[in-house]
Amino acid sequence: MELRIEDLHKSFPHGASSLRVLNGVCLEATCGEFVAILGPSGCGKTTLLNILAGLIEPDSGRLLLDGHQVPDYRSHIAYMQQKDLLLPWRTVLDNAILGLELQGLPRQQAHAQAQALLERFGLGGFERAYPHQLSGGMRQRVALVRTLLLQKPIWLLDEPFGALDAMTRSQLHHYLLQAWHDQKATVLFVTHDVEEALVLADRVVVMTARPGRIKAILDVALPRPRHVTDPQFVALKAELLELLHAESLEERVYESS
Ligand SMILES: Nc1ncnc2c1ncn2[C@@H]1O[C@H](COP(=O)(O)OP(=O)(O)O)[C@@H](O)[C@H]1O
Ligand SMILES: [Mg+2]
Repeated sequence: MELRIEDLHKSFPHGASSLRVLNGVCLEATCGEFVAILGPSGCGKTTLLNILAGLIEPDSGRLLLDGHQVPDYRSHIAYMQQKDLLLPWRTVLDNAILGLELQGLPRQQAHAQAQALLERFGLGGFERAYPHQLSGGMRQRVALVRTLLLQKPIWLLDEPFGALDAMTRSQLHHYLLQAWHDQKATVLFVTHDVEEALVLADRVVVMTARPGRIKAILDVALPRPRHVTDPQFVALKAELLELLHAESLEERVYESS
């Protein structure tokens, strides 16, 4: 499913005034495209995804799916929030099937589907564990499994691998890409890790410091699996780091003025 965001604006009340967070964000993801979003902390990445998922209202702007404003657009979107939001009283397995259950799938069937994906994401043997018994990285994986199980055409993933070590991360990149390939989903993947963006995405979008808007878009025309030592990869990485570095400098200037 194709996703188009047109001129999104959002401010939050801030004391007596307001804080401008998104300032005319325009973005497109074609059907089955994997788009990574990079930007300095606080630039509005999570706010952008919250709006796309329908959790908060934008002040203005439009969201189009396959070229149309769709009233029930939420039903086409699976969202993994930055906070993992697992229910503490549910086991791993029951947290994973939460979305499926809400969709009315019988528990038995939901369990069977979840089981396979939990194993693939390295959580086999932990089905009966509770969230407090898991590491941060494991909880993130449960939340990711829950998101992928919904089989939606659009995935919004907000720093899904933030709490993981490098080895686990690269393994999960592999499984995520596999699931993306199998489901042919359109993905918006927020990260602050330049290498992660380049390993995964077809295109990388760089946002400005707050108020966020799109600063640059880079095509990553490299075959997968990608190698961080590939000269083209290295060149793209340098380019992205420079774009981001300029933003953090501007933010400092802006805040001290
Ligand atoms: N509900 C809210 N009310 C007020 N301010 C908010 C709210 N949500 C986010 N903000 C502010 O908006 C800015 C962008 O936040 P966020 O979208 O979480 O940034 P990012 O995900 O890029 O780090 C931050 O300054 C944050 O404090
Ligand atoms: Mg965020």
